[in-house]
Amino acid sequence: MMKVSVTTLPLVSLDVDLLLLLVTEGDAGITAENIGGEIGQALELTLSDFSGKAGESVVVYPAATRAHRVAFVGLGDSADDAEALREAAATGAALAKKTNGTTVALRIPDVALDSDVTGQALVEGFMLASYEFQRYKEEDERTHDRTERFVLHAGAHEQAVRRGAERGRVIAESTCTARDLVNMSPHEKTPTLLGKAVERHAKKNGFDVTVWDKAEIEHEKMGGLLAVNRGSPEPPAFIEMTWQPSKAANSRPVVLVGKGIVFDTGGLSLKPTKDSMDHMKADMAGGAAVIGTLEALARLDVPLYVVGLVPATDNRPGAFAYVPGDVLTMHSGKTVEVLNTDAEGRLILADALSYAKIYRPELVIDLATLTGAQVVALGSKVAAAMTNRGPIAALCEAGDQSGDLVHPMPMHAHYGDALRSHVADIKNIGNREAGSITAAKFLEHFVDYDWLHVDLAGPAFLQKAMPYRPEGGTGFGVRLLVEFLTRMASTRKR
Ligand code: BES
Ligand code: ZN
Ligand code: ZN
Repeated sequence: MMKVSVTTLPLVSLDVDLLLLLVTEGDAGITAENIGGEIGQALELTLSDFSGKAGESVVVYPAATRAHRVAFVGLGDSADDAEALREAAATGAALAKKTNGTTVALRIPDVALDSDVTGQALVEGFMLASYEFQRYKEEDERTHDRTERFVLHAGAHEQAVRRGAERGRVIAESTCTARDLVNMSPHEKTPTLLGKAVERHAKKNGFDVTVWDKAEIEHEKMGGLLAVNRGSPEPPAFIEMTWQPSKAANSRPVVLVGKGIVFDTGGLSLKPTKDSMDHMKADMAGGAAVIGTLEALARLDVPLYVVGLVPATDNRPGAFAYVPGDVLTMHSGKTVEVLNTDAEGRLILADALSYAKIYRPELVIDLATLTGAQVVALGSKVAAAMTNRGPIAALCEAGDQSGDLVHPMPMHAHYGDALRSHVADIKNIGNREAGSITAAKFLEHFVDYDWLHVDLAGPAFLQKAMPYRPEGGTGFGVRLLVEFLTRMASTRKR
């Protein structure tokens, strides 16, 4: 567990393994004068060889500081961009890893952002970049020298920096909860075990949870979830989380729904292994993001009534598996003709979405690794957002601010035509065109409230690391939702 703190002691006096100085292109902020004395002079000279371009870094060993090493890290030329701060802090974290820096300090750079936003972004970038999933590594294979203490050096606005840093720490840790769940081996996160894990998180972090078993799911007539589960030896679970603070700004809740396919083989419409089924332990990343978000809301004490729903099962081709041609009666009463058992996510989400009506929700947001088409359309950094009549612009703004980027997709009525069935109300697949949109159109049949849908198939799980996002689970969605919901709570209060 990394400790995060804020100090205003003189830079030269900080006794750390590594001192990070972020430099913008053409920076005038690091001078002999404002760093202090001998070290300032040494650094000012080094700086003349350093452009400050984003991603650039140089390590020096000045005799006159108590810090063992000092590193300059380039911030690029956009000094009002939280994402640039996260990425520069991530470069700092990489240097700390390389030099076994157990204690690291970072001087808050002079940027045109609020100090709390700056503190938050720097802590998020540093902590998210320091993350390593070591659960299955032998003891002597594990990194032990990871950073234990991260100190932000604040000039002015110490209180605001501290507030932001604390927020950044909670959000980064909650994001890493989601990452851990995604990275975990499928046999350790069966629906039942996932439910148990959420019960532990709920207890530790102060939100409520009920995990329904198969009998209760049958009683609710969740025909989609039960059909997908039929080919599995493991029973399904339906995880219902609640964060209801007494000072909530809303009386009707925001309901978050996360896809919880703990492993997607495709079922009888079996996936090929390479670059397809081999990634499918991540098919509960939407659920993981909802779980991580509940953790963050509770720890940050966000004054908003929020419910989280995660329908959970694996999708397998066992002897009793549902088959193409099966017609299902869903929780809502609608019938669905299954023509591809690999389009299972929409079936379990549909049941959760129609169940969500009992809450008379103000807004429902679902997150799902729903379609390969999303990855083709937008790649690994940006998720797709769709809506019936929900606040999609506000969601995209929260995305820009948080770094979890989302982009809207069209939802014209004609996209729904592809779902016409001859035997049932609708079928579960469209044609080759606009696959992520037809999936959203399917879900739209099960909502009657303001609704946002986020398809995060690309950004949830990476084959190749990106700045502060390691290979594997990224925890995408936690920062997005926490930002969106915090904004919602604060506009409501005013
Ligand atoms: N879990 C997959 C979607 C997915 C693909 C997530 C790649 C992450 C990376 C989903 O259940 C699925 O298989 N979707 C099908 C739908 C199709 C059969 C209509 C797809 O996208 O191919
Ligand atoms: Zn599938
Ligand atoms: Zn799936």
